[in-house]
Amino acid sequence: MCGIIGINSNKPVSSTIVNSLKKLEYRGYDSAGIATLSSGLINEVKSEGRVDNLEKNSLVQNMEGTIGIGHVRWATHGSPNSINAHPHSSQNVSVVHNGIIENSTLLKKFLVNKGHKFKSQTDTEVIVHLISEHLKTDNIVNSIKKTLKSLHGSFALGIIFKDQPDLIVGARRGSPLAVGYGPNENYLGSDSYALKSMTNKITYLNDGEFCIIKKDHVEFFNEDGIKINKKVLELSSTEEKYDKGDYKHFMAKEIEEQPITLKNGINEYVDKSNNDINIYNFPWKINEISSLTLIGCGTAYHSCLMAKYWLEELTSLDVSVDIASEFRYRKNRFKKDSLYVFVSQSGETADTYAALDLCKQNNMKTCAVVNVIESSIARDSEFVLPIHCGTEIGVASTKAFLGQILILYILSLKIGLWRKDINKETFSKKLKDLKELPKMVEKTLLTDNKIQSISGTFNEAKGSMFLGRGFSYPIALEGALKLKELSYVHAEGYPAGEMKHGPLALIEEGMPVVVLAPRDNYYKKTISNMQEVIARGAKVLLITNKSKDEIVSENIWEKIEVESTNADLLPFLLTIPLQKLAYYSALKKGYDIDKPRNLAKSVTVE
Ligand code: G6P
Repeated sequence: MCGIIGINSNKPVSSTIVNSLKKLEYRGYDSAGIATLSSGLINEVKSEGRVDNLEKNSLVQNMEGTIGIGHVRWATHGSPNSINAHPHSSQNVSVVHNGIIENSTLLKKFLVNKGHKFKSQTDTEVIVHLISEHLKTDNIVNSIKKTLKSLHGSFALGIIFKDQPDLIVGARRGSPLAVGYGPNENYLGSDSYALKSMTNKITYLNDGEFCIIKKDHVEFFNEDGIKINKKVLELSSTEEKYDKGDYKHFMAKEIEEQPITLKNGINEYVDKSNNDINIYNFPWKINEISSLTLIGCGTAYHSCLMAKYWLEELTSLDVSVDIASEFRYRKNRFKKDSLYVFVSQSGETADTYAALDLCKQNNMKTCAVVNVIESSIARDSEFVLPIHCGTEIGVASTKAFLGQILILYILSLKIGLWRKDINKETFSKKLKDLKELPKMVEKTLLTDNKIQSISGTFNEAKGSMFLGRGFSYPIALEGALKLKELSYVHAEGYPAGEMKHGPLALIEEGMPVVVLAPRDNYYKKTISNMQEVIARGAKVLLITNKSKDEIVSENIWEKIEVESTNADLLPFLLTIPLQKLAYYSALKKGYDIDKPRNLAKSVTVE
């Protein structure tokens, strides 16, 4: 994935580049680097690890130059060390890159034959040498055009040149890139968020386009090197403040913020005075839609799966769910009356974006459920339903998950009503319960001590299982994913009824197993499955909702009871203890909770 920043100014740029890189760390944090032009030379400083390491480097502190590029990396080719960190430079060109060059091996062979020497294991370095090679005989525009044409794969690029001390080149295919406009200076960035402290005037590059950024103006070109005009967009200028407050980690803060996420979503979509749901400007007639496909990655995929259960319960639509990286290469049957819903916190996930693009090429109806409304997925979808959970910093998604499933539940309810699959009375009853949900989540968040004390057991075990049926199954998957992401222990989410078909063989004396068994239609079945794992020695943590009825089961290791509400809404409440379990397990291990190893918040490579 990686993050890119570029600044062309008449003031020194290194400290502003470093500060902007900190905002881009959600895209990758295994190394960082910066290159500036000063005294007719390219100066380059790179460090392994976080941007903090780069900032502490005395070479950066003394770095001169009023034009420069910076990068945070999430390794694809070559291990995460300072040699493979970007920028990559030859004597006359320096490049930062986000994406993957798929034909780099072939290009490298060609360039080595021409006498070029390579220093790193990255795919990016071929871009540096290709440009240098073309510059021997061509001007900048032609050299860039020819280089881009010979690259296969995806890229966003920032490039500076020793002999062109007044310009930065930006180029895009696949990976997002934005240009920003400031007073006597202009910028390049992976997204508008990284540029927001400097400007709210933005132009997004489209696939195939490149640009030349000077201090006082920017020129745009299409892939054939022909000049084009682009619109300048004015984004809202309010910049959110991000701090942890009294919390140790952003994740802890974001877990606690979930009642606010739900309140915001409910205020946005629920018309309290008319007891209705408002989905303004929904662009299609409801009878034009008879099936719905939900697509996402990671936690967002779990949101899609959750929505399938609700949509099937509340509507008569045909519903399917897909992992974006699978959908994009499968032989899909596109149906005219299908609505495709793309779920993404960042709105930049490469696979989800590619799936959206594929649907658009096939003239499908597209709707995005996103948090970042200026993102590529939001911009390119026909219709957008924002999540409104504010910036999520923790790499492991928490409040965005609850935000996504809230919007998807609201959509399911409204479609059910529109299609008359549910009557007004049922709709009103469910809406009434929904309005109470933030309070229920607030109360559930108070269950804390018990989770803290049992979390160590999950760290000590070889692995753990998370089981659920029906509405609780997607939550079991999400609970296991959270534990894997944060504590680096093996955890498997499984449909409880499927255990006997294989995974039961994994159960041994003392293995922790989380069983999600709220008092819904699946309750009795899940309790039976729980007995089966207890009988084989599992240590069961049962998570259910409060009820007058006693649980008829012995030998449960621990029990957590969440608040009670209607069965549709219990998944929101069951999620809370699982998020906390993962948080406390990682806390006990002393891991970096907000930035788990090998991961990134926004995955802009496929
Ligand atoms: C990464 C993040 C996950 C997230 C997934 C999809 O893997 O670490 O937390 O669920 O990407 O991201 P998106 O922004 O599309 O929701």
